[in-house]
This record gives sequence, C-alpha cells and structure tokens, in this order.
Amino acid sequence: MAQEEVIIARETANLSGMVRVSGAKNSALKLIAAAILGQGKSTLRNIPAISDIDIMCEVLERLGATVERGEHELIIDTAPVESFETPYELVTKMRASISVLGPLVGRFGQARVAMPGGCQIGARNIDMHLVGMQELGVEFSVDHGNLVATTPNGLHAGTILLDFPSVGATETTMMAACVAQGTTTIDNAAREPEIEDLANMLNAMGAHIEGAGSSTIVIEGVPLDQMHPCDHVTVGDRIEAGTFLGGGVLLGGPLTVEGIDPSYLRMALTKLSAMGADVQVGDDFVTVSRTLPLQATDIQTLPHPGFPTDLQAQFMLLAALANGSSIVTENVFENRFMFAAEICRMGADVLIDEHHAVVTGVDRLQGAPVESTDLRAGAALVLAGLAAEGETIVRHIQHIDRGYEDYVGKLVSLGACVERATIDFAAL
Ligand code: UD1
Repeated sequence: MAQEEVIIARETANLSGMVRVSGAKNSALKLIAAAILGQGKSTLRNIPAISDIDIMCEVLERLGATVERGEHELIIDTAPVESFETPYELVTKMRASISVLGPLVGRFGQARVAMPGGCQIGARNIDMHLVGMQELGVEFSVDHGNLVATTPNGLHAGTILLDFPSVGATETTMMAACVAQGTTTIDNAAREPEIEDLANMLNAMGAHIEGAGSSTIVIEGVPLDQMHPCDHVTVGDRIEAGTFLGGGVLLGGPLTVEGIDPSYLRMALTKLSAMGADVQVGDDFVTVSRTLPLQATDIQTLPHPGFPTDLQAQFMLLAALANGSSIVTENVFENRFMFAAEICRMGADVLIDEHHAVVTGVDRLQGAPVESTDLRAGAALVLAGLAAEGETIVRHIQHIDRGYEDYVGKLVSLGACVERATIDFAAL
C-alpha cells in the first residue's frame, strides 16, 4: 500500500505548559487479563485509548468475555468466558497477549496460547514464565505453534526464584499463584510499579498478595470461587510521563506532567538533573525546565528502580544534543539500539558496540525521513524532529499508536509544530 499515515514534525522553539498522562499501557494490558480471574463485571478506569488495548480487548472477547468501552473506562464481563484458547492472529500482533496465560490456567486449569510475536526488540523468550508456572504444577507442551498448558495434579503453591526480574514472568506467575493451593513465594521478582498495580487489583478481587513492588512477593492462594470482580483505577503511565519530560528538557520548558507518582521516575529525574534540567516534583506532578546547555551523562538500563529501557531512546536523543560524550548501556533487551541508526540519519553521532552506545553530542540535528522501529523509538523520533532544523517525516507510526494516546494532540497542546498526514509514497 503506497498511502501511509505519517507524523510530520517541524522545528519548534519550545515545549511548555501542562500535559496529563494516560493510564499506563503496561499496567492496563495485564489488568484486563486479570479480570478473567474474577468471574463477572469488573470496571477498569484510566484506561489509555491506544491500539494495544484494542487488541487485548479483542483477546478477551474471543475468549467469550463482553467488553463495554467508555472513553477511558472498560466494563469487562468475564462470566461468559468459556474458551481457554487465544487465537494466533492476535497473539502474533502483540506479545502482551501472553498475559492471559496465568489467569486462564488459574480459572480453567488449562490454556492454549499461540506463541507470542510483538515488538522486534530482542529475543524476548518466555522461558521464565514457564519455569514459574511449572513450579506451580503446570505442564507445557507445544502443539502446532501453540503453547498448551495443563495441570494434571491441580495448581499448587511453589517457591520460585527468577533468573532475572522479568516483568512478564513475575505477572504470569503471580496471577496463577493467586488461586493455587498454598503459599507461593516469588524471589527476584520484578519491582515495576505496574506489578504493584496488578497486585492491588488482584487483592481487590479477593487475592492475598504481599510484597508486590519489592523483590519478594508472597501469595497465599485462595479458592477460585473466592475471587470476584472489582473496580480499579490504572496507575499513571511513567513512560509517557518520562517521554514528555524528556521533550521539555530537550526544548527548554517549563513543562509539567500531571497524573504520575514522581517516585516512579526517580532514576529518570536524576538523569535529567545531571543533564542540566531543573526538576520540581509535587504529589502527582513533575515540572522540568532548562536554561543551561545540555550536559552529557552515562545511562544504563536496568530493571526498576534502575533506569527504564522504555526511556532509553528518548534519553539517547538528549545525549545526542548534549555537550560531551555519553555512554548508554542497554542491559534489558538485545537489539534495542535501532533508534540510533535513525537518529544518525538526522546528524547524530552514535557508535554502537554490542550493548553499549557512545553518543557524542552535536550542535544541531537535521530533519529527515525516518522510521519508527518500536513505539518508544517512534516517540523519540518525533521529539527529535521538533529539535531538528526543517521537517522530519516519521514513518511506521502504528508503533506510536500502540502505546501513546493522542501523542500528536498532546504535543500540539504544548506548542509543538507537529501533525499527522497521509502521504502517497508511490507518487513521490
Ligand atoms: C515489559 C514491558 C516492556 C518493558 C519491559 C522491561 C509490557 C507489555 N511490556 O516487557 O515495555 O520494556 O517489561 O521493563 O509490560 N526474558 C527472558 N525470558 C522470559 C521473560 C523475559 O529471557 O521468560 C528476557 C527478555 O527477553 C528481556 C528481559 O528478559 O530481555 C526483560 O523482559 P521482561 O522484563 O519480561 O519484559 P516484558 O514483560 O516482556
């Protein structure tokens, strides 16, 4: 298809004002899956209007649930769910569809889930999800591209030590363990705020989970019939917040992001200060501004509370325009430097050596046609276009729409020269 929707970003003097973040994508997707465990109508609030949520709703509908959609609200009735099979075409569209595995096994003692696809940012195995579930008595086999889970001896408690604090593996294991017989411990658990949000929802549904948000999570299993629907408000999106704050620091601000607990962004805010920003935090907002030149700083991505891999591209952009050289180290995903190749087309100086990038600041970037390689890289490329001379055409923006609600509209409200347009590339 020659016609393609793109985002056109033009040089913008400043980004300033106030923007409210949506609910966290990475939380909301798992909350929708968790609703499977509480048979009946759960209400989820502060749900972002993004395409990944549409896919997750479709996954639930295919399982038999009904989903009523409000502007930022979902009412999900999981009472009619009878199927425990997720279709290939949905799981291959979005890796997070695998999140239904834990709840399906919890509810039916079995699941059949197509092997996941999703963002092309590294190997993204699911071995730790499987090890966690096996400790709970789940047996797995592969059948024509589907992962088949069964529980011949029922679900029982386990003692799990994760190789790496994987967000997905922690969530999958936690959701299944809610209804396993006995008390399960997950050590080396992921500590992301979204894990805490999921545990809060599960507890509101009748689960007994303690320690979510720390490295050790203890789950006392309850019978499935004690789980019930709930009403839950999704935590604010710290990555969306970090993206806009990065934009504010890039162009000067002052820019305020509302709807976020600033403690979730501690490492990112520390790095913004190190790069020359003035950072003010309130109860649920952060304001950044910058009058001094950007300074280089080293960044290494790590599981929370370390620097989030989902902000790596946005901060590499700041480093690309800073005084001096920064070393950016990616420890969470392989191949997550695709953004570097695109920003180098705009005049940045980035050298990659395996999982390290040496970013030497340049004075100016130049507008160019570039491609979103994943959703965070896409968001960062739009910001790069605002800081660059001339016009930047960002292609493959379906990645941005997966995770950012009305990204262009929010940027325009902050003063950005940016628009969506349809271009016929065959005619060029
Ligand atoms: C989630 C987020 C993603 C974020 C990431 C890390 C969602 C929908 N996505 O992804 O935006 O970048 O956390 O904060 O919430 N791994 C294995 N085996 C496993 C599981 C993971 O080897 O069984 C590896 C992955 O390949 C990756 C690393 O562990 O290299 C981290 O993965 P994980 O923390 O599980 O991230 P996701 O849950 O996939």
